[in-house]
Amino acid sequence: MSLVKNLLATTGAFLCALSLSTSAKEIEIKFSHVVAENTPKGQMAMKFKSLVEERLAGKVVVKVFPNSQLFGDNKVLEAMQLGDVQLAAPSLSKFKKYTKKLQIFDLPFIFNDMAAVDKFQQGKEGQRLLNSMSRKGLQGLGYLHNGMKQLSSSSPMRLPSDLSGKKFRIMSSEVLAAQFHAVNAVPVKKPFSEVFTLLQTKAVDGQENTWSNIYSKKFFEVQGHITESNHGVLDYLVVTSKSFWQSIPTDIRKEVKAALDEAILFGNSIAAQKAKEDKQRIIDSKRSSITELSQTERQQWVAAMKPVWQRFEKQIGKKIIDAAVAAN
Ligand code: LMR
Repeated sequence: MSLVKNLLATTGAFLCALSLSTSAKEIEIKFSHVVAENTPKGQMAMKFKSLVEERLAGKVVVKVFPNSQLFGDNKVLEAMQLGDVQLAAPSLSKFKKYTKKLQIFDLPFIFNDMAAVDKFQQGKEGQRLLNSMSRKGLQGLGYLHNGMKQLSSSSPMRLPSDLSGKKFRIMSSEVLAAQFHAVNAVPVKKPFSEVFTLLQTKAVDGQENTWSNIYSKKFFEVQGHITESNHGVLDYLVVTSKSFWQSIPTDIRKEVKAALDEAILFGNSIAAQKAKEDKQRIIDSKRSSITELSQTERQQWVAAMKPVWQRFEKQIGKKIIDAAVAAN
C-alpha cells in the first residue's frame, strides 16, 4: 500500500515538475491599453494575440487588458520598466518623461493629414525616434494610427476665441498644454479613464480626441458640440522594455515581431475607416452637433496655435520638425 502511495506521490511530483517546466518556458506577454476593444488599438491588440497564438502556440501567450483594466496611461511605462507588463501602445503624447523628441507629434497643425503622418513615421527621422528611449530601457517597435483629433465641448466652437476661459482635459503633454494656453483656454491633465466623468460632471468643459475615441467612450453623449478641427494627430507607439525584448530567444522574437508588424498594418488599415464610421455614428445619434470650419476660419486656428512650435523647437530638434513638415 505504502509502495503504491509512494509511487503515486512520485508520479504526481514528476508530472507537476513537468508542467511547471513546460509553463516556465512559455513566454507571457501582457498587453495593457486604455481604450475600448472596438478601436484601432483594441482591434490591433486582438489581432496580435490571435496571430501569436496561432503561430507560437505553447511558446508565447498574449494577454490583452483593454480599458485601463491593468494600468492607466500614467502608470504603464513605469510598470513596464519594472517588468509588470510587456507591451503597451500609449499615445505619442504620453512619453515626455522618457524623451522630448516625440513631442513632434503634438505640435498643432504640423501634419496636414494621416498620409503625411505615415510618411514621416516610416521615414528616416520617424524610424530613428523608435530608439529615442533606449537609454531609459524602452524600445519602440512600431507606430500605430488612430487619427486626427477633433475638439469637443459643451458650447459651440467656431473661432479660437470660443475656447477662452474654458477648461479642456488634455493628455499629460507640455505641448498640448501650450496649445490650449495659446487660445486662452485652461488645460487640465487627466488620465483617459477619467475623461467621461469629467465631462459628464462638467468638471471640465471639453477635450480633444479622435472620432473613434469620442464614439467608443461615449464622450459625444455628454458633449453637445464637436468641431472638426483636425488640428493634431493622435497616434501610438507600440513599446516594450529592452530587457524583456532581448530576453526572448532570437527565433521567437523574430516571429513575435512579424506578428506585431502584421497586426499594426491591420490596425492602421482600419483606423481611417473607423474614423469615418464613428463620425457618422455620432452624427446619426443627434446627441452632438458638428461644426465644420471654412478655410478662413481654419486659418485663424492655425495662426493662434502655430507659435507653439517655436517654443519646443530646441527640445524636439529642428531636423525632426523639418522632416515632419516635409512629409506634407
Ligand atoms: C487619450 O488619453 O485621450 C488617448 O490617448 C487615449 C488613447 O490611448 O487613445
